[in-house]
Amino acid sequence: MARDKRNIHFYLNGKRVSLLVDPLKRLLDVLRENFGLTGVKEGCGEGECGACSVLLDGKVVNSCIVPVGYVYGREVITIEGYKTTERYRAIEEAFARSGAVQCGFCTPGFVMATESLLRENPHPGEEAIREGISGNLCRCTGYVSIVNGIRMVAEQSSRLWEEKEEGEIVPVVSKASNRAEVLEDIPFGNTHYESHNYFFPETLREALEIRSRMGAIPVAGGTDLMVKYKKPAGLVPRAGDPVIFLNGVEELRGIKRVDGFIEIGATTELSEILKSEILPPFMREVIRGIAAPGVRNTATIGGNICNASPAGDTLPALYSLDAQVVLASVGARRALPIESFIAGPGKTVISDDELLVSIRFRNVDFDRYMYKKVGTRKANALSKVSFLGLIKFSSGVLKDGNSRGESFAGKEIEDIRIAFGAVGPVVVRSRELERRLLSLKDFAMIGEVITGYEALINPIDDQRSTAEYRREVAINLLKKFLGEMYYL
Ligand SMILES: Cc1cc2nc3c(=O)[nH]c(=O)nc-3n(C[C@H](O)[C@H](O)[C@H](O)COP(=O)(O)OP(=O)(O)OC[C@H]3O[C@@H](n4cnc5c(N)ncnc54)[C@H](O)[C@@H]3O)c2cc1C
Ligand code: FES
Ligand code: FES
Repeated sequence: MARDKRNIHFYLNGKRVSLLVDPLKRLLDVLRENFGLTGVKEGCGEGECGACSVLLDGKVVNSCIVPVGYVYGREVITIEGYKTTERYRAIEEAFARSGAVQCGFCTPGFVMATESLLRENPHPGEEAIREGISGNLCRCTGYVSIVNGIRMVAEQSSRLWEEKEEGEIVPVVSKASNRAEVLEDIPFGNTHYESHNYFFPETLREALEIRSRMGAIPVAGGTDLMVKYKKPAGLVPRAGDPVIFLNGVEELRGIKRVDGFIEIGATTELSEILKSEILPPFMREVIRGIAAPGVRNTATIGGNICNASPAGDTLPALYSLDAQVVLASVGARRALPIESFIAGPGKTVISDDELLVSIRFRNVDFDRYMYKKVGTRKANALSKVSFLGLIKFSSGVLKDGNSRGESFAGKEIEDIRIAFGAVGPVVVRSRELERRLLSLKDFAMIGEVITGYEALINPIDDQRSTAEYRREVAINLLKKFLGEMYYL
C-alpha cells in the first residue's frame, strides 16, 4: 500500500500506455495534448454536448469530465483507434448514405455513442436510438439524418455487434489487451504529483484508513467535482488535497438483496442501476431521466446523494422509499435515514473520516406511480421541478406502470407517498399529509391537503427558472396525481 508510483497506466487504442500526469487532469486534455489524438473534440467542457466522447471499457463517456486517474488500468478507445475496425466502416458508410455529417465536428462523438449503444443493444428501435445519442449535440446536420444512419447500421450490420457465441461479445478493437499485465502495475498506494497527493485504494479498509488519517476528498465518478472545479482547457481541476479515487474499491459496488433490504453500493454507476431487475420500475425511470448515457456510465448514486443538490434526482425516490444511508469509518458503521443525512443544499452530516458505503431500502410493491421531471431539455438537464407519487391499493389490482388517468375511486388505498425535488432546500415529503390522504373519507377535503403542500413548497429563483413557475408546476403535478387517484 505504501508503494509510491507516479505514472498512470492504461490501454489506449489497444496499446498499453504509461505517463507521468496529474490524476485529476481531464482525460480529454491528456488525449489531445499528450497523445495528439485530436479527433476527440472539446465543445462545452461540462459533459453536456458529447463532442469529447470516447469509449471506456466499451462504454461511451465524456472525456472532459473524466479525470485521467479514473481510467487507471482500463481501456480507452478514441475515434483514431476505432477507425481501424469493421464496425467503424459500417457506421461511416451508413452516416454518409443518410447524410448524417455536415461540418463533422460532432461526428466522432456520435460514432462513439453509436458503438456504445449497439454494443448494448444491436437492434435498437427509434426510442432507444434517440436515448443512446441523447448526450450528443449537433448544430448543423439535424438529428433525423443521424437517427436514420444509426437505424441503417443496425438493420444492415447488426451481426458486427451480436454475440458470436453465448456470452462472447466482439471486442471493440481487434488487438486484445493484456489486462493482467497492466493491473499488476497499478499503484494502490500514494501517488504524489506536484505537491498534491492521490490515493488509489483497492479495498474499503484501505480507503477508510486514508480517509481517517487525512480526511481525503473522495472522487467517485467525478461528474460533479470535475464541473465544480472546472478550469480552462489544459489546467488541472483542483478538487482538494489529498484526493482518493474510489472506483477501484470493489466492495463499494453492486446491487444486492441483504436482510430484507435492496442495497446499492455507493460507487455503482447510474447505468448499472438502470439495468437492475431487482429495483422498482419507477426507480429505473428516475435514473433514465438523469443526464445521458455518457454521464451515467461514470456518475454514481453515492455521488448524487453526497452532492446533496436540491435538484439531485435520485433523492425524491430515496426519500419516498424511506431509504437509509450506510456510512463507515475505521472500525465503525452507522445507518441513518436519508432525510437525516441531507442537512441542506450541498450539505450532509458525513464526518471527515467517513465514507458513504451504500444506500438501502425495503422494496414496497407499489401498484401505481407518477414520475415527472421538468427540465429545459430531455437529456443532460437538471430538474426545475421533479415529482414522484407512489400508491399501493389494499386489493393490489393494477400492477406496475405509470399512472395513465384511470379512476381509482372505490379502491382502498393502503400506502401513498409523495415527494418533490428542486422546490426547496431539500426534498419535500410530508408523512403527516400522506397520513391525511390515507384517512380521507370526503374528497372535498383534498383541498386542505393541497394547501398543506403549498405551504411546504418553497422554491428559489435561479437561472433555470423562477420560483413562481416552479411552485405552479409542482402544485399542478400534485393535483394531476391526486386527480387520477381520486377522480376529482
Ligand atoms: C452534464 C451533466 C448532467 C447531469 N444531469 C444530472 C441530472 O439530470 N440529475 C442529477 O441528479 N444530477 C445530474 N448531474 C450531476 C451528477 O452527474 C450526479 O450528481 C452524479 O450522480 C454524481 O456522481 P459522481 O460519482 O460523478 O460524483 P463525484 O463528482 O465523484 O462526487 C460528488 C460528491 O460526492 C462526494 N462523494 C462521492 N462518493 C462518495 C462516497 N462514497 N462517500 C463520501 N463522499 C462521496 C464527492 O467527494 C463529491 O463531494 C449531471 C452532471 C453533468 C455533468
Ligand atoms: S466537451 Fe461537451 S461533453 Fe465534453
Ligand atoms: S455536423 Fe456539424 S455539428 Fe454536427
